[in-house]
Amino acid sequence: MNKNELLLAERNRHIPQGPFNTHPVFAEKAKGAVITDVEGKEYIDFAGGIGTMNVGHSDEEVLKAIRDQIQKYTHTCFHVVMYESYVELAKRLNSLTPGNFPKKTMFANSGAEAVENTIKIARHATGRTATIAFEDAFHGRTLLALSLTSKMKPYKFGFGPYAPEIYRMPYAYCYRCPFGLKYPSCEVECAHFLKEFFHTHISAEQVAGLIVEPVLGEGGFVVPPKEYFGILKKICQDNGIVFIADEIQTGFGRTARMFAIEHYDVAPDLTIMAKSIAGGLPLSAITGKADLMDHPQVGGLGGTFSGNPVSCRAALAVLDQFEKKDLLSRAEKIGKRVLEKFRELYDRYPIIGDVRGLGAMVGMELVVNRRTKEPATAQTKRLIDLCREKGLLMISAGTHSNIIRPLMPLVITDEQLERGLAVIEDGLHNLHQDK
Ligand SMILES: Cc1ncc(COP(=O)(O)O)c(C=O)c1O
Repeated sequence: MNKNELLLAERNRHIPQGPFNTHPVFAEKAKGAVITDVEGKEYIDFAGGIGTMNVGHSDEEVLKAIRDQIQKYTHTCFHVVMYESYVELAKRLNSLTPGNFPKKTMFANSGAEAVENTIKIARHATGRTATIAFEDAFHGRTLLALSLTSKMKPYKFGFGPYAPEIYRMPYAYCYRCPFGLKYPSCEVECAHFLKEFFHTHISAEQVAGLIVEPVLGEGGFVVPPKEYFGILKKICQDNGIVFIADEIQTGFGRTARMFAIEHYDVAPDLTIMAKSIAGGLPLSAITGKADLMDHPQVGGLGGTFSGNPVSCRAALAVLDQFEKKDLLSRAEKIGKRVLEKFRELYDRYPIIGDVRGLGAMVGMELVVNRRTKEPATAQTKRLIDLCREKGLLMISAGTHSNIIRPLMPLVITDEQLERGLAVIEDGLHNLHQDK
């Protein structure tokens, strides 16, 4: 047995199967967009810790910020003894997030925890109980977040009953339009449908918040039409509903804007961030209208590790690196190249049913048949395995796990990017020959 196999056997002996693993690979070190495993094999990383490493692995400035902080202290608990980095980071996010109104920010540890806090804030501020979420949405795995998540297997199956007062709308999934319409002649019916939804599912005056991903992440890199969020936001505003943007996967530059909702010219009432916010350290944030954020009583929000000082320092360094390295322009360039390559592959391989993207959030949906659009779930897994054998780490997405979703660090070099894309091309060629 080689070292990866030995470690995998130990992993299986001591760790339950629930916490899943996409690749049978153990990391030794990582730098930029390359991960080296315990046997010295190098992989180009198109997964980025599921969109956590936008600033790149082992960024020198982020590591320096972490080192500087741990030499002073690692934790005091913000609720016991405060520290400046929490305040400084909140101030920066308040000015960085969309919306020309007074804002406040609080921190938590994970995406799911931040999602849960937004629901608490929306309920408290409105005095209402219901939340509207979407089909194909992913908002996390804790029980309330899981209840907002859409995909049954493996996420929800066997874990019910779910949290009450959650109502689910179809998303703007144009490739598989839930209304059987075509954009633009559809006139974005899927967004206007919210008004009808208030008659058929839940009355508007009972709805505290509507939570939505500006581009579906786990749901398969689905990009709604440009009018979509403006319409949803207006209906929410007219009905006193808090509009919550879950920017956990889209945020921090993935779509070539700091936040994907900026492409839609919409300012959310509450914006949720996590993943790439702190260069791989656990941290999440909620930034929102000051009056909403201030609504819950003192002690109503918080957590022992929330906004840990090491994570806050790392996040400040991440923001500096975004500016210094102009990672938004880099995301734009990466996205253009990936989209161009995926479109070229679409013309050659009929297994590709759809290619779509926003900035560097570019997805490729695989189908067994372009006419029936039957998801090519097994083939997607095979493609990911083939790519790993050739030194490229990728992950899938989608309710049917049939979408390739590259989440490479934005510091990837052109040469690494081309190598990665060539491996995908090679994998598709092999898949084609398998048939
Ligand atoms: C859009 C979105 N929301 C919430 C989450 C949950 O975040 P976490 O895994 O940090 O709890 C994720 C994680 O993939 C996500 O992509």
